[in-house]
Amino acid sequence: LPLQGAGFLSPRSSVNLDGIMAGPASETETPARWRVSPVDAVEGEVTVPGDKSISHRALLLGAIAEGLTEIEGFLESEDCLRTLEALRSMGVRIQQEGEQSVRVRGGGLFSLQAPSAPLDLGNSGTAMRLLIGLLSWQKFDATLVGDASLMKRPMERVALPLRMMGARIETREGTPPVIVRGWDRLRGIPYKSPMASAQVKSALLLAGLRASGETRITEPSTSRDHTERMLKAFGVPLRHDGTTIAVKPVQRLRGTRIDVPADFSSAAFFLVGGSIARSGTLRLRNVGMNPTRTGLLEILSAMGADIAVEGLSTHGPEPVADLVVRPASLRGIEVPLELVPRAIDEFPAFFIAAACAEGPSILRGAEELRVKETDRIAVMSRGLTALGVRHRVLPDGMLIEGRKAGGPVFSGGTVDSGGDHRVAMAFAMASLQSSAPIEVLNTANVATSFPGFAELARSCGFELEES
Ligand code: S3P
Repeated sequence: LPLQGAGFLSPRSSVNLDGIMAGPASETETPARWRVSPVDAVEGEVTVPGDKSISHRALLLGAIAEGLTEIEGFLESEDCLRTLEALRSMGVRIQQEGEQSVRVRGGGLFSLQAPSAPLDLGNSGTAMRLLIGLLSWQKFDATLVGDASLMKRPMERVALPLRMMGARIETREGTPPVIVRGWDRLRGIPYKSPMASAQVKSALLLAGLRASGETRITEPSTSRDHTERMLKAFGVPLRHDGTTIAVKPVQRLRGTRIDVPADFSSAAFFLVGGSIARSGTLRLRNVGMNPTRTGLLEILSAMGADIAVEGLSTHGPEPVADLVVRPASLRGIEVPLELVPRAIDEFPAFFIAAACAEGPSILRGAEELRVKETDRIAVMSRGLTALGVRHRVLPDGMLIEGRKAGGPVFSGGTVDSGGDHRVAMAFAMASLQSSAPIEVLNTANVATSFPGFAELARSCGFELEES
């Protein structure tokens, strides 16, 4: 069996990679589909669910903090519940109180216990990569697996630098299953990450909490900084210098209260929908406005979108605002390279906006899209082709021709999301400029990030039937 980092395999260890397969029945295998019929207007006031990135982090830091961490606005999605269950299986006491309220009773840095079975992280790359960092200095072995999609995603991007810090981590040819061996003698390193990735940065920051000396991560450009903001809220000092962030070992984290804003990445679909609709005004309440996340807002504004930011509040670690979106004539855009990491999850929705814009749009420098829940360039391209949108695939992005004057942009037809939540939701938006219904296949995984999407979409005017 070809292994990365297998030099550490101990012959006496009870944990090894042989025979470990994908976790139980993956959500991508659940047949579920939507039929979204053309409508002209979206209208109303909605609150999309809590931020996924922040919800994961609040659980992880709460678990190793001392005392109570109260999380309000928690995203009860399949991805975040995977993190929650993984922590519970390591002995962390977590109570779910009401829909979006979670209490974590942290027992300190070394309170986690060895799990009795592999940790199944479902579809969630964030859960897996951040947990690898957190487990890299625990005293027990743990094995991490996921669904069919996650089992194909690259893990060496975190395993490699963590090994440089002394961690004992094995992957199978770079992908899960991942074994993290018990070991508590990490050393801080300066690490220059080849990609702007918050998951890589966060895994190293979590490892750095117990590594000797300073752990220093430099990114090519700044990725989302929720981990940094939240570590500070838990009392961990950090040092920033441009795109470098550094942490020193700590004795404790202090439990705290975390207010999770609505997820900008979930709001993004409605920013596009509200912009390409023919009429209606949509208000999205209490949306997270962390500038490392709001690249799509800048892109859409440069395309001529009519989106007002109201009541921006910068109290607390994460800024929030209401976003009010109205229909507008969009113009094609060449996406500025520096915006790519700040809009990385929003490109499926962006491609739909670009198809509705006048003039061509081009996205480059987004090769990371190829290793998301699906290869989002390939899967979006197949869907755009099925709906009659002229475009060209690039190795690191896409060129989209833009609308012809008059008529509908999308022909109607059937698109397969490939089990990718964001692809499915992006194509639902296309119904606002379609001449016939759009069938979206493989929609079950929308619950990984946006439970209740179909209902919420219907509440603001979409004609979306589930089957
Ligand atoms: C995330 C980071 C991003 C993003 C993902 C969530 C996070 O991934 O695409 O949806 O919560 O840290 P990368 O770190 O791979 O860019």
